Amino acid sequence: MRVWSGLLAMMLVAGCGTPAAVKGGGVVRLSARAPARVDPGALARSLTAVQPGWPHPDLTVDCREVKCVALTFDDGPGRYTPWLLDELDDLEVKATFFVVGQMVAADRDHTLPRMVAAGHEIGNHSWSHAELPGLSDEGIARELGRTQDVVEQVAGVRMTVMRPPYGSTDARVAAETRRLGLAQILWSVDTLDWRDRVPSVVARRAAKATGGSIVLMHDIHRTTVEAVPNVVESLADKGYRFVTISELYGTTPAAGRKYTEL
Ligand code: NI
Repeated sequence: MRVWSGLLAMMLVAGCGTPAAVKGGGVVRLSARAPARVDPGALARSLTAVQPGWPHPDLTVDCREVKCVALTFDDGPGRYTPWLLDELDDLEVKATFFVVGQMVAADRDHTLPRMVAAGHEIGNHSWSHAELPGLSDEGIARELGRTQDVVEQVAGVRMTVMRPPYGSTDARVAAETRRLGLAQILWSVDTLDWRDRVPSVVARRAAKATGGSIVLMHDIHRTTVEAVPNVVESLADKGYRFVTISELYGTTPAAGRKYTEL
């Protein structure tokens, strides 16, 4: 988060810390206003064309016919996320990442373009991991809208799913997600991996998934990344297929609606 604090300080120094300037994602505009500190990668990413129709789910798997599990990872991208992506590559498993906007803005590992290239799905987990029902309508719109924008800038995709931080949502949050074209994705299996930092415990809880489960994990914890190969092995042994959220439903889930499993 030191990098992000630095960016924020630079934005204030550059005089573009007004709500209107920050609203569009801020970071790339900052580069344009502070040429001495331009990150060529950021500039290139800002020019990424948005992929029409993304996330392009693989619909050759019908989760109403075969047993599917959707692994989901929240709160990143973080320092362990590239390692997790290596693991998922090796295991040939696709997952869904509910990312925090300010973590995306601070990421220097090009983690999101890598997720997109590997066929993972990315979802919106707000800008600052805010408890959304406690905010004004404008606050909810800003938390979700800025995250939509920064992900579009760095990865060239427009997200169609979101997960409210703490699973906390209400009618106003639902209305804003509907307006932004985002389905609300909760979960049916909670590994409690943020509390119990023991890979075997995380793996055992995740292995309780059944057909159509959405499993909640966090890629910001080393112990979770350590648990993933065991999670995948135990579920694959039982015949489960690993799918993204859009693949689980066989379509883009409906904007504004709340889902917890298939
Ligand atoms: Ni979270």
